[in-house]
Amino acid sequence: MNPKLRRPLVAGNWKMHGSRGEAGRLVGGLLAGAAGAGAAEVVICPAFVHLADVGRQLAGSPIALGAQDVCAEEPGAHTGEVAAAMLADIGCRYVIVGHSERRALYGEDDALVARKFLAARRHGLVPVLCVGETLAERDGGATAAVVLRQLDAALAAAGAGAFEQAVVAYEPVWAIGTGRTATPEQAQEVHALIRGRIGEKDARISASLRVLYGGSVKAGNALELFSMPDVDGGLIGGASLQAGEFLAICRAAGG
Ligand code: PGA
Repeated sequence: MNPKLRRPLVAGNWKMHGSRGEAGRLVGGLLAGAAGAGAAEVVICPAFVHLADVGRQLAGSPIALGAQDVCAEEPGAHTGEVAAAMLADIGCRYVIVGHSERRALYGEDDALVARKFLAARRHGLVPVLCVGETLAERDGGATAAVVLRQLDAALAAAGAGAFEQAVVAYEPVWAIGTGRTATPEQAQEVHALIRGRIGEKDARISASLRVLYGGSVKAGNALELFSMPDVDGGLIGGASLQAGEFLAICRAAGG
């Protein structure tokens, strides 16, 4: 059995979805069911424009607020960007950095993602560092090399100590939004690799680091993924847009 020392975490990544009204109704549904959500820590990450409204709605609830991205720079002349200080100021506790859609569609490389990770930490936010290989990389036997390269960029920039207040999300690109999940064994193998890499630097931090799985997690497959020893919860896209489905995933994580 899995002696989980780490409190499971489930984060909903709403991506670029939802009107103001829809966001409000989704949060309402989550709050109505939150009491039955189990022991997992729950975070929701709406689009930037909804953060303040959703944050007000969540005030006093056990659900935490996160953002989907952050600028690597401090406040200043960066039209269109949002600084970590601004996210912290409106009540965000978490921020996703290096999501594969940012890497693939917006040209974010490991160096930029590492700088975003650092910006988040400077302002007391918990970065959720996303790593993961494409299908071609997996088929080419490069999964470990890709995941470690992505992890090492943040590790080299921030040091292992920064991971005491960070989360890593393993999200195989071929499993995101495709309905195709990694098998629990495939996830476990990469999660153990990630934990092991941090453990080479600091055993204590490695033991407490939460490593989430992301990629087509649903209520129906969450339990088998979350029962693996190094899977500490999930980063949930599509299924986080339905309150009932998301809460069922939270229950699966919180046991
Ligand atoms: P998905 O997305 O759950 O819709 O596959 C996960 C993610 O992109 O974080």
